[in-house]
Amino acid sequence: MYSEKVMDHFQNPRNVGEIADASGVGTVGNAKCGDIMRMYLDIDENRIIRDCKFKTFGCGAAVATSSMATELVRGKTVEEAMQVTNRAVMEALDGLPPVKVHCSLLAEEAIHAALWDYAEKNGIKIEGLKKPKEDIGEEEIEEEY
Ligand code: FES
Repeated sequence: MYSEKVMDHFQNPRNVGEIADASGVGTVGNAKCGDIMRMYLDIDENRIIRDCKFKTFGCGAAVATSSMATELVRGKTVEEAMQVTNRAVMEALDGLPPVKVHCSLLAEEAIHAALWDYAEKNGIKIEGLKKPKEDIGEEEIEEEY
């Protein structure tokens, strides 16, 4: 049911933890299951993400997608990080069962929330970035899938 990559990232999640004095921190909740995700980004003066860590009260799929998402955004500019969508993360993990797709949104939304926090603190605008929602509602998941 789960790909080997999902199992690997679930059993050995990369980049779990916190970043002290992070450039941006974002926390989001999943209204469907109540799970919570927090992302920390360390961004340098060239807008490159030097480091990314996460903490979660989330299911295995949320852990695996967040682990992969942190790997994908590290080393990218904040603009490039906007391309790390939940679809991109799922593809990198060789897919997720349909009932677990909403879990992958948690990682994407948490990264967006952390980027928003960074942009606000620095008075900059990131192309395509919208103000984060506190909870990811079921409606929008159904809309997209
Ligand atoms: Fe809640 Fe997966 S069941 S994030």
